[in-house]
Order: sequence, then C-alpha cells, then structure tokens
Amino acid sequence: MRILIVGGSGFLGSELARQCLTAKHEVAATYLTRSGETAGVEWLPLDVRRREDVDALISAFHPEVVVNAAYRQADWATTAVGAANVALAASAAGGRLVQVSSDAVFSGASIRYDETCVPDPISPYGAAKAAAETAVSAIAPTAVIARTSLIIGDGDSPHEALVHSLATGGAEGMLFTDDVRCAVHVVDLAAALLELAASEYHGIHHVAGTDAVSRYELGLLIARRDGLDADRLPSGRRADTNVPGPIEVRLECGMTQQRLRTRLRGARQFLA
Ligand SMILES: NC(=O)c1ccc[n+]([C@@H]2O[C@H](COP(=O)([O-])OP(=O)(O)OC[C@H]3O[C@@H](n4cnc5c(N)ncnc54)[C@H](OP(=O)(O)O)[C@@H]3O)[C@@H](O)[C@H]2O)c1
Repeated sequence: MRILIVGGSGFLGSELARQCLTAKHEVAATYLTRSGETAGVEWLPLDVRRREDVDALISAFHPEVVVNAAYRQADWATTAVGAANVALAASAAGGRLVQVSSDAVFSGASIRYDETCVPDPISPYGAAKAAAETAVSAIAPTAVIARTSLIIGDGDSPHEALVHSLATGGAEGMLFTDDVRCAVHVVDLAAALLELAASEYHGIHHVAGTDAVSRYELGLLIARRDGLDADRLPSGRRADTNVPGPIEVRLECGMTQQRLRTRLRGARQFLA
C-alpha cells in the first residue's frame, strides 16, 4: 500500500512508520517541527492548519491510505481544523482515511464507553477531538475513526518518562490512583490501525487495552519492569485536585476487537 502518515514524527506516528516499512508499504510521513528518524521513510514537512499545503501534499503523494495522527493538546486549529483539512484532501485524492481519536471525547460521567457512545467532552482537547470526529465522518463517511487511550511503549512514551523522573527524584508531582484509563501498547495500537486501514470497515472503532488501570498502578508496573524503586512514586487522588478533565474513562473495545486479528493486550500483560 502507498501510505501517508500525518504526524508521522510523533510517538504513535513513528511506530506506524516502522510497521509500514516492515510490511513493505511505500510510506511517507509528515512532521511539523522536527523530521522523524526512521530511514526508508519519505519525510515531508506539513502544517495541517494550512489547507492549501495539505491539499498540495496529499494530491502530490496520492496515497491509498492516510493515517492522521497529528494533534496538539491545546491547539484547536491543529486538532480539529487540521483533521478536517486532512479529510477534505484525502477524499479529493480518493484515499482511505484513518483518523486517530481519543477517549478524551468522553466526560467520564458514565465510566464505561463502547463504540456506540456519543461524545460529551468536558475539556478543550476533548472538544477538539470530538469536532474532528464530526468533521471527518461528514467529509469522509468511509473513514475509520479510531479512539484510543493512554499510549505506552517500551520506555519511550511520555507517561513512562514521567514515572522514571518521579522515581528518581527528577520531577515533582504525583500519580493519581483514581485516574483510570485502558492504556494500550503502541505496537498493538499501530498494528490495529494498519489492519483497519486495510479493511473495509468504517466509522467509530475503539482501540485500547483490555485492562482499566490507574496512572498510579501503571507507574508501579512500569517501575517493576524497569527496576525502579516503586516506593518512591508519589500517589494521590485526582478528585482532590483542581486538575480539569475526565477522571475515569474505560474504552470498551468489544466490537472492534471482534473485527481484528491484532490482540489488544492490557497493561498488566504488556508491562509484566
Ligand atoms: N499519547 C497518548 O497517550 C494519546 C492518548 C489518546 C489519544 N492519542 C491520540 O493519538 C494521536 C497521536 O498521539 P502521539 O502521542 O503520537 O502524539 P505526539 O507524539 O505529540 O505527535 C504529534 C504529531 O503531530 C505533529 N503535529 C503537531 N502539530 C501539527 C500541525 N499543526 N501540523 C502538522 N503536524 C503537527 C507533530 O509534529 P512535530 O513533532 O514535528 O511537532 C507530531 O508528528 C493523536 O491523535 C492523539 O490525540 C494519544
């Protein structure tokens, strides 16, 4: 397949690029501020906020599949408008689209959310991701919209870096015991997204891990895996702080998992 990864220099995008190369796909990937490092990938600069640039790049590369993993937490124009720009360009070029979304589209009021649940965001980031979903489904009805959760790797994700800093005294803060997500391994997530890209499915999919774990439990698991002193990890309750956003969100992935060969492991398994 000829695949374009928008936001390919990011954490998820880099793993997508690596798996595309392994599968012998022809792959180009975009970056905003710094090119990715994977050799064999055509690295292209792109700002998704600039609609003409998105149109020009996608019509020139003419991908069969576009995976959009570009986002910026606090930037509506990147996360929401950018997703619409990518969907418009991918549709015009006749390419299939996989839009990466987030469990942040949910408030946490219901705790458990399956693929039929309607977004009720309570943060600016969640609202931008929900707006992106709406735009993508209107512009590109055949697109896959894949909601995921906290992404963990083999030491290279932001949450793992935070755990290391907290355990070695390099950072201040705490890991919440009530802030629960269905963390997913980046390798499982990228494999599932590429499987969905090659399928004929469309619409909302949930691609998250099978275990609902708190950030503190994740910290303990990461500390044990990496030989850190877990007793040094500070804990607390998010409900006792002013940190905004959803507290407990469990993405239920039953419908999606039934469609996939890729197994979406839980954190207790992949961090064991
Ligand atoms: N990380 C998580 O735990 C998590 C959880 C749930 C959902 N998600 C979703 O998963 C996706 C990927 O997340 P990630 O953690 O891999 O993100 P990331 O590491 O922060 O990467 C973001 C990517 O977007 C690019 N980007 C930022 N602003 C851009 C713009 N204006 N135009 C074009 N590209 C831009 C970045 O380029 P530069 O690096 O060059 O600036 C980078 O390639 C996102 O859709 C996110 O919402 C992530």
